Amino acid sequence: MKILTILGARPQFIKAAVVSREIKKYPDIKEIIVHTGQHYDINMSDIFFEEMKIPKPDYYLGVNSLNHGAMTGKMMEKIEEIALKEKPDWILVYGDTNSTLAGALVASKLHIKLAHVEAGLRSFNKKMPEEINRIVADRLSDILFCPTDNAVENLKREGFEFFDCKIVKSGDVMYDAVLYYKQYAQKPQNVDISENFVLCTIHRAENTNDETRLRSIFEALNEIAKEKQVILPLHPRTKQKINKLSLSLNTITIIEPVGYFEMLWLLENCDCVITDSGGLQKEAYFFKKFCITLRDETEWVELVEIGANKLVGAEKDKILKAYKNHSMFNIENSKLNLYGDGVASQKIVGEVMEYE
Ligand code: UD1
Ligand code: UDP
Repeated sequence: MKILTILGARPQFIKAAVVSREIKKYPDIKEIIVHTGQHYDINMSDIFFEEMKIPKPDYYLGVNSLNHGAMTGKMMEKIEEIALKEKPDWILVYGDTNSTLAGALVASKLHIKLAHVEAGLRSFNKKMPEEINRIVADRLSDILFCPTDNAVENLKREGFEFFDCKIVKSGDVMYDAVLYYKQYAQKPQNVDISENFVLCTIHRAENTNDETRLRSIFEALNEIAKEKQVILPLHPRTKQKINKLSLSLNTITIIEPVGYFEMLWLLENCDCVITDSGGLQKEAYFFKKFCITLRDETEWVELVEIGANKLVGAEKDKILKAYKNHSMFNIENSKLNLYGDGVASQKIVGEVMEYE
């Protein structure tokens, strides 16, 4: 069996790392990895392949930094060529990026079976590029691997039970990744880190493309940083916007994006997480840290329901209030198996192998 895996962005490398390790256990499966090039800086891409020993991509497409239509179109053109040449049995896509969308569209145009890992998630905000990408990828997929019960419910509500596809609750591959890789957690070098610090990441278009939201977020972070160190590994998209707007970050500890092993150390040792990342919201929970989410909605609603995650949007006062109250939440007592049993990658590969 031949599987063509499409990757392009940081979170997809982490998810694919655990699934690729599982695929390697099956001598009958040949995995061909296509890296679209959507993320291309060393610490946004190469570092993940090196430290997690993800097989070197068989194809590198070098498509990035374009408007969404151009980016998706160029990726499709190149993925189609590869698919026609390699004739895979499956195309495997992860998450909700433009690389996911391009891979999904090519698979369905060429009648190649499509498997979507992280299916069924919804923010119900169609202004998010990710929401469009995941809705389309889901609808075109033959197997939909859902990380949570809520994801399965979303698909049922949209009528997926009546479509010609299989819905599988696999659990979340990001949980598999944390369980396996946390043994390699590594303290970031060349930065002074206090014993107690807040870990922060910001990159979502809805925040970085909106000057009012971005300013308000940084005002709140500057305020928090007066009393506790705030460590912010800075996504290149956010760096560009900060420079353009000349935002003041005087008190915040800005560092380059870190590799996954350093991120695991930061998660393990921080006091709490402030983020607009999808992945970080769950990782905060895996490390029993409270998460303040700089968004108006989340796909990970179960974390909000148990009180491990507070949605605050981008308003300074709401961010500061959530920060002030965060220590009141005791995650030790909360439900700890919302994202499966740490065997999502086994289930995914097993299902693909057995699919008739
Ligand atoms: C993309 C995904 C988003 C995901 C995120 C993970 C889409 C629509 N968005 O957002 O869902 O959460 O990846 O981080 O697919 N850049 C660099 N170096 C890099 C990568 C990006 O400088 O290695 C800069 C480029 O100027 C680029 C901009 O960041 O234009 C945005 O990158 P892009 O991949 O379009 O979107 P992300 O914000 O990274
Ligand atoms: N991450 C990382 N280094 C960083 C920032 C994030 O390794 O500097 C990891 C993070 O731990 C998570 C994944 O990248 O596993 C999430 O990526 P991101 O926030 O870019 O995307 P999202 O999950 O929002 O799609």
